[in-house]
Amino acid sequence: MEAAVRRPNGAPEAGRVNADPWNFEPSTEPEQGPSDAPPQAEDPLDRTRFPIDEWRLVETDYGPADLGTTETLFSVANGYLGMRGNPEEGRDAHTHGTFVNGFHETWQIRHAEDAHGFARVGQTIVNVPDTKVMKVYVDDEPLNLATADLDEYERSLDFKTGVLRRKVIWRTSAGKRVQINTTRMVSFAQRHLAIMTMDITMLDGDAPIVISSQVLNRQDGHDEYSGVTRSTGAAGGNDPRKQESLDRRVLDPVSQSAGDGRITLGYRTHESRMTLAVGVDHSMFTDNDYSEQISAEPDSGKLVYRINARQGMPIHLEKLVAYHTSQSVPVRELIDRCRRTLDRAREQGVESIHDDQRAWLNEFWRSADVELPKQPALQQAVRWNLFQLAQASARAEAQGIAAKGVTGTGYSGHYFWDTEIYVLPFLTYAQPQAARMALRFRYAMLDAARQRAEEMAQLGALFPWRTISGEEASAYYAAGTAQYHIDADIAYALVKYVNATGDLDFLLHEGVEILVETARLWADLGFWRTNGTSEFHIHSVTGPDEYTTVVNDNLFTNVMARFNLAHAAETVTELKQLNPEAYARVAKRLSLRDNEVEEWARCAEGMYIPFDESLGVHPQDMHFLEREVWDLEHTPAEKRPLMLHYHPLVLYRFQVLKQADVVLALFLQGEHFTAEEKRADFEYYDPITTGDSTLSAVVQSIMAAETGYHDLALRYFYAGLFVDLDDRHGNTTDGVHVASAGGVWSALVYGFGGMRDTGGELTFEPRLPESWPELRFRLRWRETRLLVTLRRDEIRFEILSGPAMQVRVGEQQVDIEPDEVCRVPLSGQGERRRGEIGPGPLVGGRRQDGSLITASVPRPRDQ
Ligand code: BGC
Repeated sequence: MEAAVRRPNGAPEAGRVNADPWNFEPSTEPEQGPSDAPPQAEDPLDRTRFPIDEWRLVETDYGPADLGTTETLFSVANGYLGMRGNPEEGRDAHTHGTFVNGFHETWQIRHAEDAHGFARVGQTIVNVPDTKVMKVYVDDEPLNLATADLDEYERSLDFKTGVLRRKVIWRTSAGKRVQINTTRMVSFAQRHLAIMTMDITMLDGDAPIVISSQVLNRQDGHDEYSGVTRSTGAAGGNDPRKQESLDRRVLDPVSQSAGDGRITLGYRTHESRMTLAVGVDHSMFTDNDYSEQISAEPDSGKLVYRINARQGMPIHLEKLVAYHTSQSVPVRELIDRCRRTLDRAREQGVESIHDDQRAWLNEFWRSADVELPKQPALQQAVRWNLFQLAQASARAEAQGIAAKGVTGTGYSGHYFWDTEIYVLPFLTYAQPQAARMALRFRYAMLDAARQRAEEMAQLGALFPWRTISGEEASAYYAAGTAQYHIDADIAYALVKYVNATGDLDFLLHEGVEILVETARLWADLGFWRTNGTSEFHIHSVTGPDEYTTVVNDNLFTNVMARFNLAHAAETVTELKQLNPEAYARVAKRLSLRDNEVEEWARCAEGMYIPFDESLGVHPQDMHFLEREVWDLEHTPAEKRPLMLHYHPLVLYRFQVLKQADVVLALFLQGEHFTAEEKRADFEYYDPITTGDSTLSAVVQSIMAAETGYHDLALRYFYAGLFVDLDDRHGNTTDGVHVASAGGVWSALVYGFGGMRDTGGELTFEPRLPESWPELRFRLRWRETRLLVTLRRDEIRFEILSGPAMQVRVGEQQVDIEPDEVCRVPLSGQGERRRGEIGPGPLVGGRRQDGSLITASVPRPRDQ
């Protein structure tokens, strides 16, 4: 089938978003001009089940149908340790999951057809022993939420206290009502610690109660209920987003002990030889008579309380939990560490640990909160996303930030560019210490990246596309290793971090080394071609869009590499001038030569930037426009996402995008494109961007805002905001989409707030959605904490602490002094384009050689 339709992806319908994020009514507004009735979104959540609460995610009805999703949504984590929201009873679950960041098993990747440099060592996050289990029996009847007669049920994740709380009143088969309240939290203040409590009161009559508190190795052990072993989460099938399953024992038991309310278990992973210890400690408080029995086996530990519960007499159980892991430290030593963590926690007491959690979060929200006054439903969703960023990064420390944080098995617990491009902007401006740690983590990988570059026949360092240990783990090189842009993404994030924080110490010690080695890679990977003028080209790479791979001169890669080269040259040159001693040390350490630094500057200067004169757009790569267009409008919904229904080669043949590529370059390197270019590119690429990756919508939102497509910006923002809360991609069950959560912050601050941080200054060109009365966000810039309030008619700046600073609003220089509210009036907020994107030079347009661009859908097998 071939048709020369105008828009391939339904764009005529008033800027419809491809992934249909949030069933908007199409705008019927005229092309330009203000609107009296800005578009209203339907709330995607069932508010009887998930009522609106600005500081909590609340569930009022137990839902067996979407367990996988709610397990992810109600996870508690601190960046090091994460526990999915499985119910305490340990029964029905989509995936019982507890994860320690970076704790992984390795396996040999077997390529049917091997080649030099293919990734060899698979790395998969391990489901560490489950300490969440606290089973309850009343009159010997087990509580099982799926079948229980519940008079009351509420589960809530509180963003201020960092506690997951469940309140249940259960009417047993004997007709007795029992109140069972539990809490679970993973401590932000103490990285290795989690605490749980259980409160039970018989409301009607007396009854024997049993509480069986357990530690279960679910990675290898048997689940008593399903009889299934190794329940580490759904294996991937042909879905690359899921985890590989390990069909063998992973955790070899090394030690077990039980006594005095405490159980410890120790393990070593079979192949990667990592070590882990888990310890749990119990304290029972009740005036009821009770007895207890404790035991430990290689794959489980149990403390069983038998209580003669009397009506109205409370039972309070505290369970303290510690996990310690290592690459090399013996299990015995890790068990000691667990004991010390537990002893300290016991001395401190649960209440005080909860106080510390609240204090930590207080401080977090003081610098991270984004407020949407008078919009409680959106506010709740925004805070849930920001809270996820804390849960993914806060105590990651020597580890990276995985695509799913520590909330699920998706992408096997790997680290990607998601960290640098999607999460680090938030961390840089809200949690700079966590940003520093994430960058230091890359620094720690630098040696492995040097070796990888060597293996790939390049100079410098090549960071792995996906990894846990530092080794490349991407088995499919075309959409993996070929994404060389990861080097520039890291360099970009670090330059932005240093600019915003002024952390020259990091730049001098670690940053400069990363800049130098990545610049070396680019200078070596690219090459000069002289045809009248000299141009620097980069061939055979893949950009962010994985529906087109191994191409020449991918625009995104080239502009980001240019940034990398230019900043490496600039940093080294400045260092030489300003601090010759430090320069001498760096030069010696890295065998740096003056002429190579000059060469980087030349490469940056001569970088080839593809542009198509006849269509007036930047091609995604040299051959992109030669392809025909994928007709998304006529692609059946059941064939989405495309990657699960078409062989990569089918996708590669077309102009169709998994995710923003040129459009992301327009955002990250905006200062190098004119407003007209941005608009033309955005209009060209938006209709052929499927958004099959959750990394897309948030970027499309930012560029829609900048190019004046305000309604579209809002719709894409909602698509990102509700990626997980509304399970928009059908895989929230595999864990939180952390990059999208970071993108939500970026869409608010860079998109609607219009902030940019190029050239060492903060600038604002705000674009507040018409339906929003106000947007408030906080930024840390050097020593200053700034509060920004955006309204229809003004933008305000207030210094919360620290010295005076300057920003620019449009063309106006603004001095902000402490103790003064600085108000800048706004007249309008940029151009507003209503309705459809269009009409771009896409389908029906002509290429430079005069040929017509057409659109079609490849015939699926079953049609
Ligand atoms: C995206 C990548 C991303 C990865 C992990 C993929 O679907 O295409 O850009 O890094 O997911 O989030």
